Amino acid sequence: MSVLKQKKKKNENSRRLNDGKPRSKDKRQKDKKSKISFFQRRKNHKPSETPSDLQDIMTPNPDQEADDQHKAAKAVVKPKESQLSKREQIELDIGPKYRYIHDVGAGAFGTVVKVERIDTEQELKEQAAAQHTKKDAADGADGDDKAAKTQPATDRKREFYAVKIVDRIFSSKAKAKRFLREVRTLRLLAQHESIVELVDIVPPSKPATFDKLSLVFEAMPTDLKRIFRSKQYFSSLHIEYVLYQILLGLQFVHSAGIVHRDLKPENIIIDEECTIRLIDFGLARGVKENVEHKEEDIIIAADVKDLVGLEVEEQADVDVDGLEQLKLVDAENESGDKVAESKPNDTSAAESGAASTQKADDEKKDSSEPAARATMKNKLTKHVVTRWYRSPEVILLQQERDYVYGVDVWSIGCIFAELLQMHSKNCPDYKQRKVMFPGRTCFPFSTKDPFDYQQRTDQLRVVFNVIGTPSESEIARFKDKNVQIYLKNMTPSKPVDLRARFPGTNVHGTRLLADMLRFDVTQRISVEKALESPYFDNVRDETAQIRHRKVESFEFEDIDLDLQKLRALILEEVMYFNPDWKRLIKAQYKKKRKYLKELQRGHK
Ligand SMILES: Nc1ncnc2c1ncn2[C@@H]1O[C@H](COP(=O)(O)OP(=O)(O)OP(=O)(O)O)[C@@H](O)[C@H]1O
Ligand SMILES: [Mg+2]
Repeated sequence: MSVLKQKKKKNENSRRLNDGKPRSKDKRQKDKKSKISFFQRRKNHKPSETPSDLQDIMTPNPDQEADDQHKAAKAVVKPKESQLSKREQIELDIGPKYRYIHDVGAGAFGTVVKVERIDTEQELKEQAAAQHTKKDAADGADGDDKAAKTQPATDRKREFYAVKIVDRIFSSKAKAKRFLREVRTLRLLAQHESIVELVDIVPPSKPATFDKLSLVFEAMPTDLKRIFRSKQYFSSLHIEYVLYQILLGLQFVHSAGIVHRDLKPENIIIDEECTIRLIDFGLARGVKENVEHKEEDIIIAADVKDLVGLEVEEQADVDVDGLEQLKLVDAENESGDKVAESKPNDTSAAESGAASTQKADDEKKDSSEPAARATMKNKLTKHVVTRWYRSPEVILLQQERDYVYGVDVWSIGCIFAELLQMHSKNCPDYKQRKVMFPGRTCFPFSTKDPFDYQQRTDQLRVVFNVIGTPSESEIARFKDKNVQIYLKNMTPSKPVDLRARFPGTNVHGTRLLADMLRFDVTQRISVEKALESPYFDNVRDETAQIRHRKVESFEFEDIDLDLQKLRALILEEVMYFNPDWKRLIKAQYKKKRKYLKELQRGHK
């Protein structure tokens, strides 16, 4: 991957918006405007003010990377002639409005690709017709109207997006629910500048039987994980500004009564101007317990419900496929676990394994048998957050609904520690940048050996090596006696001096870090309080500190919904983004239904 450093010399594999020089106020205002129109954001408020002396950072040149990727792919994969090529498959998945450019990344549950918005045939026809009318009008007029004749057929500004193609959505109820959570949460949080904007969902060609959907997001050039691995260094101002925006986004999420539960550097995207967005809300959920709704209260619009039911009757074999896929997903999850624990030296495998293990466990818990589900009912799924970013109370299975927001704060603390290492005084050699708590196993979760907790590399042990073992009063707070015994048996260790560990950071920064990484979740700083820290004095923009208008509740949480109902709820989300498609599909359905009725009458 290419280098990300603020240097004058332009690297051919990298790009940035200016030469790393501070931007003038005017220029910044202009930049901001163009940035907003570039993403076509629908936000109704200002993003936080970019500090005037903030230098642009460098992000990889995706086109160069794509080129390399293509070359590599060509050398390895030879698609069978009878099958669609990868590009053809992707073009099919993203629909006629978008053109595939290159891959961006592949996660545990989806592939992300960069696309460009293009005109569909229908749009081109409409434009040609409009052009024709304009030309006729201009022919009839003189002088000024000549300009109309010379206008190009389309004046669309080039728009690029990132599309996440999620496959096998209905392979289990848990997966379908996760997908629903992601789109619903993003729709509710769309108003915030630090949260990725979901701009479209590509409508499926078969609404009753689809198993794959493409989510279209505003695009950013890279994510924080890639930035941390790059040769680039950050100034204190960069770090303050990035962390400040992350907290602004999280303040909005938490004020809506939602926890993200999967914050990690690869789930934060960033551009050259250091603007960030939180992404990947697949594990997010509402904190408020759903006591108002039972399964029968979930009212699906009659036509959507019928639409789903009708086509399924016509294609009965789909259910069988669904069962097959369920097995496949479970097998995949188990192998994810093995990857995580069997290759202790391969950090990337361990890391991705950790992600899939965690999601797998989440899924297994959610999709457990009815009896087991009853015990899980009304509890938050416990196994969340990728291992390295997982808070002590999650590791110890001691989460409490009132303190669930602390899970995200812990993760942000871990990310903050990585951000601090971007400063050359905190970590002079970029190759030495490390995850704050790189545990290799996580007692009592992803381990088969009951003595794993005694290992030096167990997650909680690694955490205690930095923050010190908990005090007696902290241990006494846990109701579970086994947890108390377990913690008391840990070899005592003292906290490290964060001032010495991060000499390039002021005391406000290290204090904030320590407050985010408090073992006791009741003592951990809240996002609201963190935003008040003097650490942000250089970047604070109070007009950008906004809360969501209310605590949201999710009617589909804490209850068991069958796949058809989940499909209907997901279809309603697709329709929200595609009102024209909604009208079309409903009209088609009406016609079909009429036809079926006539057929029935004919048989009688
Ligand atoms: N809008 C976007 N702009 C740029 N890059 C993106 C965008 N969305 C996702 N990515 C890239 O794709 C990766 C995977 O995306 P995302 O986290 O949403 O998918 P995922 O399948 O849920 O991943 P995982 O489950 O492994 O966390 C991200 O880490 C990021 O690098
Ligand atoms: Mg992700």
